[in-house]
Amino acid sequence: MVAPILEPRAEAGDHSIAFCVNGRAVVAHGSPLQRLSRMLREELGLTGTKVGCDAGDCGACTVLLDGDPVCACLVATGQVEGCEITTVEGLASRSFPGESFSGESVGLKLQQSFLAHGAAQCGACTPGMLMAATALLEKNPTPGESDVTDAIGGVLCRCTGYRKIIAAILDAAFTDHRSANAASISPPAGAAVGRRLVRLDGKRKVDGTEKFGADETPAQALALRAIRCPHPRARFYFGDLAAFVRDHPGIEAVFTAKDVPGKNCYGVIVAFADQPVFAEEEARYRGEAVAAVVGEAAAVEALEAADFPVSWEQLAPLADIDSALARGARLIHENRPGNILVRGRVVRGDVDKALEAAAVTVEAEYETGFVEHACIEPEAGFARRVGDRLEIQACTQSPYMDRSDIAAILGIAPERVRIIPTAVGGGFGSKLDLSVQPFLAIAAWHLRKPVRMVYSRTESIVSTTKRHPARMRLRGGCSKDGKLLALDFAADFNTGAYSSWGPTVSARVPVHASGPYYVPHYRALTRAVHTNLLPAGAFRGFGVPQAAIAQEQLYDELADRVGMDRLEFRILNALNDHTPTVTGQVLGAGVGIRACLEALRQKWQAARREAAEYSLNKAGSLRRGVGVAGMWYGCGNTSLANPSTVRIGLKRDGRIALHQGAVDIGQGSNTIITQICADALGAPMERFDLLSGDTAITPDCGKTSASRQTLVTGKAAQMAGEQLRRAILKLAGACTCASIHFEDDGVDVRDGDNSHRLALGNLPLDEHGYVITSEATFDPPTSPLDENGQGVPYAVYGFGAHMAEIEVDTELGTVRVLKVTAAHDVGRAINPTLIEGQIEGGVAQGLGMALMEEFFPGRGENLHDYLIPSAGDIPPVESILIEDPSPVGPFGAKGIGEQAVIPTAPAILNALHDAIGIRLRRIPATPDRVRAAILAKRKGDGRG
Ligand code: FES
Ligand code: FES
Repeated sequence: MVAPILEPRAEAGDHSIAFCVNGRAVVAHGSPLQRLSRMLREELGLTGTKVGCDAGDCGACTVLLDGDPVCACLVATGQVEGCEITTVEGLASRSFPGESFSGESVGLKLQQSFLAHGAAQCGACTPGMLMAATALLEKNPTPGESDVTDAIGGVLCRCTGYRKIIAAILDAAFTDHRSANAASISPPAGAAVGRRLVRLDGKRKVDGTEKFGADETPAQALALRAIRCPHPRARFYFGDLAAFVRDHPGIEAVFTAKDVPGKNCYGVIVAFADQPVFAEEEARYRGEAVAAVVGEAAAVEALEAADFPVSWEQLAPLADIDSALARGARLIHENRPGNILVRGRVVRGDVDKALEAAAVTVEAEYETGFVEHACIEPEAGFARRVGDRLEIQACTQSPYMDRSDIAAILGIAPERVRIIPTAVGGGFGSKLDLSVQPFLAIAAWHLRKPVRMVYSRTESIVSTTKRHPARMRLRGGCSKDGKLLALDFAADFNTGAYSSWGPTVSARVPVHASGPYYVPHYRALTRAVHTNLLPAGAFRGFGVPQAAIAQEQLYDELADRVGMDRLEFRILNALNDHTPTVTGQVLGAGVGIRACLEALRQKWQAARREAAEYSLNKAGSLRRGVGVAGMWYGCGNTSLANPSTVRIGLKRDGRIALHQGAVDIGQGSNTIITQICADALGAPMERFDLLSGDTAITPDCGKTSASRQTLVTGKAAQMAGEQLRRAILKLAGACTCASIHFEDDGVDVRDGDNSHRLALGNLPLDEHGYVITSEATFDPPTSPLDENGQGVPYAVYGFGAHMAEIEVDTELGTVRVLKVTAAHDVGRAINPTLIEGQIEGGVAQGLGMALMEEFFPGRGENLHDYLIPSAGDIPPVESILIEDPSPVGPFGAKGIGEQAVIPTAPAILNALHDAIGIRLRRIPATPDRVRAAILAKRKGDGRG
């Protein structure tokens, strides 16, 4: 366990504090109360130590203090006088004399093992993980799995699902990964796709040099703090702002809505844009910004909330869907009658008639709550004005969308805004929307000085989007032999005060609420409803995980009612290449759901037998159950243009510049897109120089969301690679079957016995500065949906099925997941290690959604009360990769990011019913809810 050593004491003052960092003597000056994490990062520039909460909850700041792991955010600098501190930057050189490591640095071994296992995704937790693991292995070089989960139990990871981290730590002592890592970065030309390559940006993530939003600060940068509404709804009145600035030395300016040079309005979907940078007169949710204070960092930090001259008049909020939909309810936005932002609709066949005729019907209602993204990296960045242009360097999933919105806010052309994405410490949809960017832009624009903003954990939680709470009602029917006949689905999504991704959720869910099955008669109606709560937005799956919770449990009930095995029921009804989806689309190829379900069959039968035997023979309160759930997910935007453009250039030195603007948020797009491009061109990976996600140097590759980057940007990279190959062959006058060999000063083209040498140094450069430039755009072929939602919403779907084995303590109401087996049709596994990482991370988030995660606005706005799974919560995950190639995707590939999270929660909830016969209608299945349901059932059974 990572534990704080002492709380900071209450005295301040300026002192000299001598200690050692990574073997170097340091004398720090300043307050001994300053957090060690801050001292390391801000004073010593050791930004490898990350800060995710400043409260001892996330472990991202873990360092070694005299060899023991501590949370540096809870250690006062004054407490390390005379001590030895090791940070991730010093890990590789930290010597360890233990025999198991043959005198090698345990830290270095761990870093290599993390790379080989794909244990770092976004990398925000990685330094903390490495430090905690180092402390363990130095004391116990041959730990067991429980030793490892104990050691890293205080370090949270939101991306990986911990399994690869655990494997990397267990393996570190015994395997030499150095040669494996080197080899895996350089497969021969044409052999990159399908290989378990180490991620290209991996080294930065394990050695602490990766730069996230808070890790770089321009000299003389001012700090910015947003003033946010503390009430669910309030009118507000500013006092004398000029006097406030005058009376607070170090404060340079206050900005409000009046200072927005362009439009005080932004939104991820232009037609629905409604969110102000600063609220005007009335704040519509708790956490909404009304002003920003800018000044020297010390002055801004010293401000108390009460110092700022604003008074609040609390107003009655519309606190839930019911009050927002009530007849005569006040409108949150005047132009949205009934407080309905948007409706979604997909209708096929005659659902009422089919339900009437069905041998069996089942009805159900399910409700889910807000879910917090809990990225380990809180939002951060800085902006600066460069002449008549503005640059923002910040964490984001969508640089070009940011650029458009910031340009509109500043009232300037988009070309005058440059977005430079930093590394993103987890996104999952939350960093698609603007966060720090508009505040920074306005301040830097007016002040002509660099301005920096770093959200605290609480600020991140109260002000960024969440997963939509859903209230779903559904009725399904099947024939007596288990053929699905009809599904009638209706859902309201609480979209909060502003639109964000509400329209996308409303549109996507009706297309997906059937699950990956043939449902001939279907009606799915959705509404996104405004309330005075924080905006709900994109979160891995865009509403589909909520719908799957309802629909997959309903299908279990139908299977039970007709006496069919629940997996066989799904296999019987699975979509195939020739059956129409609920939008009438016939995919023709690449429908791998049946293969996923069948891959589970043997394991399902064995697990069910074992669980039944266990529950039968086990005295006491433990019961076991097994559940299954299927999923499908359309890759990319729903019936909307969705292009990515990739540019590659052949340089005079024989290297290849790959301009790809897809932001890698940990999922591995930097690596996967390079693998695809390399094989399309026929060049080795090591020849590539990657230029990623900067609006000044990369074309628009769209947002990193909706499982679109492998498919869309990957396809554009494939096309650009093939195009460059054709151009080289043409230049050499060779046939299309010739092979190309890239050398440092030229290209050899071999065509049978003929060999052509292109001496690159002699060739002229084009407008991009390359010998040859190739640029390709891909936009997946879709069609608009008609008034009944019929059409082609997506060119490609990913499919999958999860099986969960669980154990329930019927006295405590606790649920322990013992194993998840996850079969996914990924079309073509471009990099199996990275795909497994997505699956394991998705399982972890699905587990959290099923059993523990619910955010209540105004309560638990930290990572202490809002619980996400830690290492000890995650069971072994067995990934089964099915490759039913997409005719559209690059090398047949489909997306996996969103897909991975969807079936876990319904599989767990189905297992809960299998174990104890209970269906919870309100999710998550927290111990109190499970126990209450058990007691109610006992009472109903006459046993309570
Ligand atoms: S525990 Fe220190 S930053 Fe989270
Ligand atoms: S890799 Fe652990 S938080 Fe992203």
